[in-house]
Amino acid sequence: MSQEKVTVRGLRDVAAADSKLSFVDPKGLLYYLGYNIDNLVENVIYAEVAYLLVHQRLPKKQELEDFRSQLFLEMNLPEPIIESIKNSPKNAHPMSILRTEVSHLAEFDPDGNEFSPDANLRRATRLIAKVPTIVATLYRSRLNRSTPEPKKEFDFAKNFLYMFKGEEPDDNETRVIHRFMILHADHGFNASTFAARVTASTNSDIYSAVTSAIGTLKGPLHGGASEKVMDMLDDINLEEEVEEYIDGLLEQNKKIMGFGHRMYKAQDPRTKHLRGIVEDFCHQDRTSDLYNKCISIENIVYERKKIYPNVDFYAAVAMDALGVPKDFFPLFFASSRISGWVAHILEQYDDAVLLRPASNYIGELGRVFVPINQR
Ligand code: ACO
Repeated sequence: MSQEKVTVRGLRDVAAADSKLSFVDPKGLLYYLGYNIDNLVENVIYAEVAYLLVHQRLPKKQELEDFRSQLFLEMNLPEPIIESIKNSPKNAHPMSILRTEVSHLAEFDPDGNEFSPDANLRRATRLIAKVPTIVATLYRSRLNRSTPEPKKEFDFAKNFLYMFKGEEPDDNETRVIHRFMILHADHGFNASTFAARVTASTNSDIYSAVTSAIGTLKGPLHGGASEKVMDMLDDINLEEEVEEYIDGLLEQNKKIMGFGHRMYKAQDPRTKHLRGIVEDFCHQDRTSDLYNKCISIENIVYERKKIYPNVDFYAAVAMDALGVPKDFFPLFFASSRISGWVAHILEQYDDAVLLRPASNYIGELGRVFVPINQR
């Protein structure tokens, strides 16, 4: 059968829509709304980046204050959601619970079925605020501990870490959580964002679109990679064993988790910041040990495959240093990427085009039908 269309396997290099939100430059640069992330990560707080993505411009001082107040007010969860989190099976992966509870939130949306731009903007802010609260509540409930109420005097990112850990983050931890969340906030048409946009392109609601995104982020080829990075680091007992371990994986044609990227041909621009965060925690013996293994892995993988670490590699160690257990790593990613997801969903609503690719049918045609009792 002749092929009528050229299959672009994995949609590699296919631009499915126009977007103003972020630009992933294969040369190793990343921009949010035209601002290089190297500048943002040094100079702004996470709430400012969330505002930038959702409103497509940086806030003025008062606008940022208002946005932070809105986030603060929206950090609560409806009681049935809290109960559902507490009753969720302890052995289920936390990403499964997050996915379910974000979907569940739709039932309690104060804007109901209204599908206006204003209602969707309110939902976007609501989701940026509530996803981290779901994550903190889930973690605390697994420890059989209560979740502290957010504090008005803390900034949004600091409140997230405070509610998660149950104790006030120190200045270094506060700086780290802002940087971490800024670095994970958006990244072009990555798989989870694309999934969100596909759902939004049918004019489905924002909760459905974010639920699609969370399910997509969960996979180990995407946001689930950081957890697998920590599995690998845990598997390697000593730094001296790194070379043998990596060569063993490569001989079996296995992927090294936290390495490679669809878009970047050079270093992932987020890596240097995350590596820096880890270096700042190296006074902790465990972090120092993990860091040394990471540097060896980075060198050996580059020598063998000429590929670089991606965002998930040092993010895993950064989160470990913050005291986050590895099955919650992808949930920290989701708590940050939510601002990018909702921004893309709003942009997709504006674009108003159904995302629906074609496929090349390679099966048979004209087969003779045989009734079931004659097969
Ligand atoms: N380990 C070993 N080799 C790799 C890796 C890796 N992690 N990543 C890419 N390669 C090799 C491939 O084997 C392939 O080599 P070949 O040309 O000799 O066959 C080449 O590099 C190209 O790799 P592809 O798999 O075609 O690249 P693709 O763009 O399809 O995949 C992906 C990108 C999925 C990220 C891949 O690099 C991977 O699986 N990495 C490990 C998982 C991971 O870290 N995911 C997180 C990505 S970042 C994020 O989503 C937040």
